Amino acid sequence: MTGGADAMSSNADPFGVPQVAAPRPPRHVAIIMDGNGRWAAARGLPRTEGHRRGVEALRRTIGAAIEFGIGTLTVFSFSSENWSRPPAEVQFLFGLLRLFIQRDLADLHERGVRVTVIGARDALPGDIRGLIEQAEGLTAANRALELVVAFNYGARDEIARAARRIAEDVAAGRLDAGAVDETALSTRLDTARFPDPDLIVRTSGEMRLSNFLLWQSAYAEFVFTPVLWPDFDRETLRAALDEYAGRARRFGGIAARSGA
Ligand code: IPE
Ligand code: IPE
Ligand code: MG
Repeated sequence: MTGGADAMSSNADPFGVPQVAAPRPPRHVAIIMDGNGRWAAARGLPRTEGHRRGVEALRRTIGAAIEFGIGTLTVFSFSSENWSRPPAEVQFLFGLLRLFIQRDLADLHERGVRVTVIGARDALPGDIRGLIEQAEGLTAANRALELVVAFNYGARDEIARAARRIAEDVAAGRLDAGAVDETALSTRLDTARFPDPDLIVRTSGEMRLSNFLLWQSAYAEFVFTPVLWPDFDRETLRAALDEYAGRARRFGGIAARSGA
């Protein structure tokens, strides 16, 4: 290859067409953990029991993500729109986050998991903010898995907060308005440290994003499974990864043909 050998050279053909087979495993998997309420209703149980069992599914999924070599696992746990649920359910979900950090943090740390929470933190109760800081601080040097918990997260809110930071930086003379580009925005998102999700999985058969990672999902692959979140396990994740591995990712380019 002459001249233009670059970062793409290891996966470029002689005409510079990028190979597009989805890398296996994906670097970043994001999951919309949906269907807890329906799982409970189908069993005549209160919705809260579905949420409780959903935490068990999350534990299984974290273990499987480590096993499968996924670098970053983002889980949608509480959306900025979930405040519209009955106050008792909102409080229950807050309580589950507290319990999850209190009970699982030591084990996550031991397994090398780095925990980060994204979303509008300021609106959360002070004790939860403290627990989040504790989890992020303790695990900051861990590298086995980046676990990103989206809690009180809404993508439009995240983008608006990033835009506000840009405005503040421009007003303070730290940033030239003419230099505002995609990188200026993406580096001010809550997810600045993470690669864009390669794969977004949504459980429970719903086929929408519900205000999750709108900016970051520009070229994500989507897998929708009818499995309700409390039933999600290693095999369901495996199946989603297998589906992803068969996808052709073109990023606006053209598909590479073997031997072409
Ligand atoms: C997902 O399950 C958990 C949260 C959104 C907090 P749901 O509570 O949305 O369950 P369904 O969709 O009503 O079944
Ligand atoms: C999305 O699920 C949010 C989470 C999984 C945390 P919802 O159940 O809130 O989404 P909609 O209301 O069905 O779109
Ligand atoms: Mg739901």
